[in-house]
Amino acid sequence: MSLRPAALPSSVHAPLPVLGRDVLVPLVTGGEVGYAALDYAASAPALQRVWDDVAAYAPYYGSVHRGAGYLSQLSTDLFEQSRATVADFLGCRPGDQVIFTRSTTDSLNLLATAVPAGTSVFVFETEHHASLLPWRASDVSYLAAPRTPGEAVTTLEKALAAREQRGPALVCVTGASNVTGELWPVRELAAAAHAHGARIVLDAAQLAAHHPVDIAELDVDWVAFSGHKLYAPFGSGVLAGRADWLCAAEPYLAGGGASRRVARRADGGVDVDWHTTAARHEAGSPNVIGAYAIASACRALAEAGFARLVEREQALVARVRAGLAEVPGVRVLSLFGEDAARVGVISFVVEGWNSSHFAAALSAEYGIGVRDGLFCAHPLVRTLLGGTEQEPGECAAPDAAPGELPSLNAVRVSFGAGTPEEHVERFVDAVRELVADGARWRYRTEDGRCVPDRDQA
Ligand SMILES: Cc1ncc(COP(=O)(O)O)c(C=O)c1O
Repeated sequence: MSLRPAALPSSVHAPLPVLGRDVLVPLVTGGEVGYAALDYAASAPALQRVWDDVAAYAPYYGSVHRGAGYLSQLSTDLFEQSRATVADFLGCRPGDQVIFTRSTTDSLNLLATAVPAGTSVFVFETEHHASLLPWRASDVSYLAAPRTPGEAVTTLEKALAAREQRGPALVCVTGASNVTGELWPVRELAAAAHAHGARIVLDAAQLAAHHPVDIAELDVDWVAFSGHKLYAPFGSGVLAGRADWLCAAEPYLAGGGASRRVARRADGGVDVDWHTTAARHEAGSPNVIGAYAIASACRALAEAGFARLVEREQALVARVRAGLAEVPGVRVLSLFGEDAARVGVISFVVEGWNSSHFAAALSAEYGIGVRDGLFCAHPLVRTLLGGTEQEPGECAAPDAAPGELPSLNAVRVSFGAGTPEEHVERFVDAVRELVADGARWRYRTEDGRCVPDRDQA
């Protein structure tokens, strides 16, 4: 595989232009086609605006919080302005902190280390592993998969009411599922949590690029998201919200930047006075480009207007769902049913097809990039597929021929503000054609990936 120069004119239309819109990829059947990036839920392409902002800043790059030079001062200002921009974007309350992390996973792990000792954590088994797994030091209750948004609220209420320990409690919930795209009733879950004296953190990894996330209006205590799913793939993420637990906790990482004063003690040890601002959990040299890129994406989304973006994305969702509904043997995975509100993330299985094989054919024969697997939400996908714990996990038996095996994983298509209609139309047509006519190529497993069999050429 090699990088291929852009050759297509920038003729594709989308509300927010992204990089890669002109990239050509080879087809196994011959020729080239413009790449249809339909895996935004994994990592969205960079916004052109973000790239331009980063490029404009790059010559001025300098150290942050640790330099007297002009460019260090400028970079420090830019980093702190980026924090303010993110706070605005999230509708933060006075006193909330915005901490730059590496990603949603990093943000939730940070919060997990900051919860007070004895905290009870409540998390639905349907969560992404980033929300499901970080709470290892706490007493965790895994709540059963609800089948309606209302059931999610009653399940949580019952679990909180039955809580025996009276200490602190924390609920962790996703805003939009990375498997079904379905929206969770965040405001209602927050109200239930607070009514029972618990706090709540919102995993907005799949929400923030698609919907406004207003921390005060949703009344959640923290929000976590990743830059690379918000069109800003420069290695940064965010944890924003209440300062008290964060200020009281040990720094997530120990080192320079987090410490205000360090002194040797007479007994030979070291005394450390840690910051009580966001810097407490940002030890090491900050990723100013990552933070600036996120701020740039926040500005671009806010200026484009979520009302317009949501309306247009809903039209794409409706098109894909209607297209898939017309193809025999395609089953779209859903927890909350047909009428659920959702973002542009849709997972499905095709009868008689192994999902890895199907995804490989979409790529090799149509130039369409989707994802196959269990999407780091193994319990949820197994529930939706009706599978068992013993079955193989991601990329199960990708070399199986169509019809040989029931699918043990799923295909996921996802899109957003940079997606032109043509990509969605091509995807729907390709699914219809593959199901009707079968793959035109043979596939096999190589290093755990399903790839076109070169021997067929
Ligand atoms: C709902 C959800 N939460 C958390 C994450 C983790 O995000 P990251 O890999 O950027 O840490 C993802 C990633 O797919 C996700 O979809």
